[in-house]
Amino acid sequence: MRRTPLRTAAGQDGPAEIRGAAFERIRRILKTFGGFQLHVYKDACVKRRLDARMRAVGCATAEEYADLLLLDKSETDALIKALTINFSRFFRNPATFDRLRDEVLPSLFSGCALAGRDSLSIRSVGCAGGEEPYTLAMILRDSFAGELSRLKVSIVATDVDPEVLRTAVRASYGPESLEDTPPAMRERFFSFREGRFLLDPGIRDMVSFYREDLMLPRAGGEFDLILCRNVLIYFERRHQEAVLAGLEGTLRQGGVLVLGKTETLLPAARRMFRVVCPIERIYRKI
Ligand SMILES: C[S@@+](CC[C@H](N)C(=O)[O-])C[C@H]1O[C@@H](n2cnc3c(N)ncnc32)[C@H](O)[C@@H]1O
Repeated sequence: MRRTPLRTAAGQDGPAEIRGAAFERIRRILKTFGGFQLHVYKDACVKRRLDARMRAVGCATAEEYADLLLLDKSETDALIKALTINFSRFFRNPATFDRLRDEVLPSLFSGCALAGRDSLSIRSVGCAGGEEPYTLAMILRDSFAGELSRLKVSIVATDVDPEVLRTAVRASYGPESLEDTPPAMRERFFSFREGRFLLDPGIRDMVSFYREDLMLPRAGGEFDLILCRNVLIYFERRHQEAVLAGLEGTLRQGGVLVLGKTETLLPAARRMFRVVCPIERIYRKI
């Protein structure tokens, strides 16, 4: 079947911009029925994924696809899933977690002790299937048992995609999710059954999962450590700025922000943070 691609601003310099009434309908449907803010994502990314979904369901035009979205809620979920690339794995970029274990967490625990505080709060934003917050929980259990017995440590993990959150709560993973996991951690914190790795219930209980769209943040409170890795890359620059300002607002003074290895602080955000480790993209709120 021959399909008409979504209309784009042909001949324009720079990335093609999605235009037209059909796209506007799709945007509104996603917002109304999926609570999803499409406009914040990079156009090229959106266009590729919309086109792939249209191909998958055999829709010839964006208008036809918008009609399908209205009829079939599962297609709305499938489109949101396609738009929010949710690849992750335990210990992804292991050197980042080494830094967190060896420098960042000890300094945050010392800061707590100096300030006479009895709790430490951690946030994982765009947590996908839970691999990132659970990795932190394993590191805490493995290397900071004393601190865990003295302090209340909470890990709050959020994502916009309800399906990945269900995966996170199930905590059952295929072998590919553990490719970067040190063997000793795998032995200690997973059991293997019928081809799946099941996470230790004690680690599962350390993390609370919530659905939250970064663009409509609800999380209150003050966090000591925020991981927002491999999420900003999909957002248009001005929305990245808004997200960084929002994250800064929920970090304690002296709190730490970690971005993905290919992400950087935009100029407006550089005034709010000092660089702790440029390679691992670790920043401390001034
Ligand atoms: C590539 S994954 C990153 C997972 C993990 N942080 C890591 O680095 O391995 C990006 C995640 O961001 C989530 N995401 C995308 N847009 C979001 C938004 N507006 N609000 C919250 N999460 C979002 C996706 O659903 C996806 O699970």
